[in-house]
Amino acid sequence: MASPTASDDIVVDIPPIIRVYKNGTVERPLQTPYVPPSLHDPQTGVSSKDVVISDNPCISARLYLPKSTDKKLPILVYFHGGGFLFESAFSRLYHNYLTSFVSQVNVVVVSVEYRLAPEHHLPAAYDDGWDAMKWVASAGGNIVYNMAMRAGAEDLPGGVRILGAICVHSYFYSSKPVGREPVSGHEQSMSYLVWNFVYPSAPGGIDNPLMNPRAPGAPSLAGLACSKILVCVASEDWIRERGVWFYEGVKESGWKGKLELFEQEGEGHIYHLLEPESENGKRMTKRIASFIMEN
Ligand SMILES: *[C@@H]1O[C@H](CO)[C@@H](O)[C@H](O)[C@H]1NC(C)=O
Repeated sequence: MASPTASDDIVVDIPPIIRVYKNGTVERPLQTPYVPPSLHDPQTGVSSKDVVISDNPCISARLYLPKSTDKKLPILVYFHGGGFLFESAFSRLYHNYLTSFVSQVNVVVVSVEYRLAPEHHLPAAYDDGWDAMKWVASAGGNIVYNMAMRAGAEDLPGGVRILGAICVHSYFYSSKPVGREPVSGHEQSMSYLVWNFVYPSAPGGIDNPLMNPRAPGAPSLAGLACSKILVCVASEDWIRERGVWFYEGVKESGWKGKLELFEQEGEGHIYHLLEPESENGKRMTKRIASFIMEN
């Protein structure tokens, strides 16, 4: 898989996701372009709007409102993916997905624009995520899990509780391979390289509990402060094993909540983002919708 290469003017290269030059330029080749929010999207009637959560640090969000908002709606706080170092709440990939999602599921979505590495190493993204949670409470993969763990240790304003958490194609890892992950080259894998790049000072390295929730000495998963969790995986996803591993860890912890696993056969990483309107894309949206609505 990827390996960091350094030429004269390149400091770090993890193809195809990031390249950092000596002159400070950061390239993110897979990043999709920014798109503006839309009032009453012509196809779906969904409205979106950008809001500032905090100026310093700079945290914002894109809000999505379904066409009909005649009753109290659940709020879904959404944290985009991208290995903590690329993609955005304002990018085409996530904007198109969430517009499609909200047209099918009657919820308000708060899609959080958190700070990225390498300009801001972890734990910046988690701190921004928590500020966004507090903002939502007083007015979302890996980050979802960490927000639910943090809610077990700290209170949200007004006693607001997290009802459920949905971890989709989540990026977890550990120094030991699990499931069908190849044993050789483990430390050269993309997941390893990315973690060391986004959080170089992480105590314990890859086995830091923020990345390895099943590390020896990690806080018990029984402390996840929500009453239901849905873990979504895809059979052909390179990170599938980690979703299942996380699910099993929660189960074994004795966590007292409703725990569900949704596996899509024959699909790969983030298939639902790439084609939200496909049969399987809609199938996942339906599954998430029923998870949100059920008690
Ligand atoms: C930085 O270096 C790269 C590679 O040499 C170059 O493509 C880029 O334009 C440079 N950026 C700036 C701001 O000088």
